[in-house]
Amino acid sequence: MFEAEVGDDVLGDDPTVQKLEELAAEIMGKEAALFVPTGTMGNTIAIKLAIGEGREIILEEHSHIYNYEAGNVARIAGSLPRVLSSDSGIIPIDKIESNIHKGLRDHIPETKGIALENTHNFWGGVPIPVDYIKKVSEIAKENELHFHLDGARIFNAATALKVDVKEIAKYFDSIMFCLSKGLAAPIGSMLTGEKDFIEEARIVRKYLGGGMRQVGIVAAAGIISINTMTKRLHEDHIRAKKLAEGIVDIKEIRVDLEKVQTNFVMIHLKTMTSNDFLKKIREKKVLALPFNDKLVRFVTHNDIDDNDINLVIDTIRAVFKN
Ligand SMILES: Cc1ncc(COP(=O)(O)O)c(C=O)c1O
Repeated sequence: MFEAEVGDDVLGDDPTVQKLEELAAEIMGKEAALFVPTGTMGNTIAIKLAIGEGREIILEEHSHIYNYEAGNVARIAGSLPRVLSSDSGIIPIDKIESNIHKGLRDHIPETKGIALENTHNFWGGVPIPVDYIKKVSEIAKENELHFHLDGARIFNAATALKVDVKEIAKYFDSIMFCLSKGLAAPIGSMLTGEKDFIEEARIVRKYLGGGMRQVGIVAAAGIISINTMTKRLHEDHIRAKKLAEGIVDIKEIRVDLEKVQTNFVMIHLKTMTSNDFLKKIREKKVLALPFNDKLVRFVTHNDIDDNDINLVIDTIRAVFKN
């Protein structure tokens, strides 16, 4: 980052950003990519462009786009979310099909797109299988729907599914992925898709205030994310499993071992609130995120090693005196 060659990315001449965008497009197998400050902005731009005002997008009930992006799908894109429930982020195919509206446009907002999330944050970082994605993509094609992926953690999904990331990406018209999560960059996400789509996206990014000047300093870290950090995610997955296995027998909590497939461990608390639990583990410098009053998420990443996992296991066991 210190040595990054910079220009002015709003004028399109920052060489480090150009390199990052080329790399991102190439690794996803798409024509072009756009560097955006956040995943939220990447998703918002895609929905604003592909769905637009007064049109519907099909989203999973617990999707990040619907729940955790400050309502941007409506607030900024002006689109109507058609929220469908699922088990583990996989909406039944027939439910998707029966919720696509194409006729009676003067009454019913027309369905313009579908978005999936892979891995799925709320459902514990489970990877969405490729054969399911393929089926949804066929429905999207038949109905001329834009197919977007909130792929904040698409590389975790590809690692867990043991496929090249392109094998997931190829089914989608647009993909947002984050550099700033498991890929360890301090800032930034990428939106990828066809050249024309990304050219339009650049305009939306600008009017949302996401055009940044000498941002090669930040993009330099994103290059390391793509070239290096994508290749070490299996280590995080092994450590998450180790953490889960180290606490699964504690009777005051529930951990679904088979759902620990990537870098998340979700802990369901039976006897304590999330806030009380988090307060206790914080004393030992162990941090996690509350999802609700009884559900807590632990995440493994580049800065967590085996000793840290042992500390977390010991700390959680001590809370329940196990
Ligand atoms: C699945 C998913 N999508 C999108 C985002 C948004 O990313 P950002 O925090 O960079 O806006 C997140 C952030 O946690 C996420 O988990």
